[in-house]
Amino acid sequence: MTTLAHISDLHFGTESPEIVEGLLEDLVSVEPSLVAVSGDLTQRARRKEFVAARLFLDRIPFPRLVVPGNHDIPLFDLFTRFARPLARFRRYIDEAVDPFFSTDAVAVLGMNTARSNTWKDGRISPAQIDDLRRRLCPLPPHVTKVLVTHHPFLPPPGDPSPPLVGRAAEALLAAEACGVDLVLAGHLHRGYTGDIRTHHVDIRRGILVAQAGTAVSHRVRNEANGYNVIRLSPQRLGFAVRSWDGRGFHEARFVDYVKSGEDWQPTLGRD
Ligand SMILES: [Fe+2]
Ligand SMILES: [Fe+2]
Repeated sequence: MTTLAHISDLHFGTESPEIVEGLLEDLVSVEPSLVAVSGDLTQRARRKEFVAARLFLDRIPFPRLVVPGNHDIPLFDLFTRFARPLARFRRYIDEAVDPFFSTDAVAVLGMNTARSNTWKDGRISPAQIDDLRRRLCPLPPHVTKVLVTHHPFLPPPGDPSPPLVGRAAEALLAAEACGVDLVLAGHLHRGYTGDIRTHHVDIRRGILVAQAGTAVSHRVRNEANGYNVIRLSPQRLGFAVRSWDGRGFHEARFVDYVKSGEDWQPTLGRD
């Protein structure tokens, strides 16, 4: 079994130092194979915010895969926003903005969806969809394939209107063809899980989605700070939401899916 920790929307510059320390402690107890960070590491893409994010990442004693979010592109500095939008991300966080991580059991592809010209909303390019096919399609079926983006593919329950990542439909067709099982994203500061087919009716294979809320920022939206812990094997995916209760992170929700043919079926809980 592989364990992924999925954290998002850290927004350094608006972080709670106590929650940052709590998160680092909790990650050590979880012992993930990979920590996936789905963007918005900073609040305004300022240098000192990137430095704080870098110091935080350096304290995580596990492999990390990080994609940028819209807040990691300057909003008001128009020259930098259009000429070198991700220069600070590349300098302080990672030169790769479409990172890839793989083991014998799991392959995780990050895709940068942050764009200068549509600052808040995100997009996937045709070249990124080609890259998805090139990296994930050749892998054998026992490898669980995961995408990580900042902008969401699936709206939250009860709110079907938020804009989804641009070219979501095309990217999902490629993801379906290549056997992707799981998509991780953030941006909405709301944590939820679901099956992509509840919104994208052209997709026939079950692809599960995990959205993470904000892990350490006070920019919460009616829910506690939290992150996802995902335990995966070829036929089973378990999602735990670990929420901040004022003193530490604890498991607040758990949902488990088993694979049945082309579907992921929710089970009643843990064995
Ligand atoms: Fe955010
Ligand atoms: Fe965002």
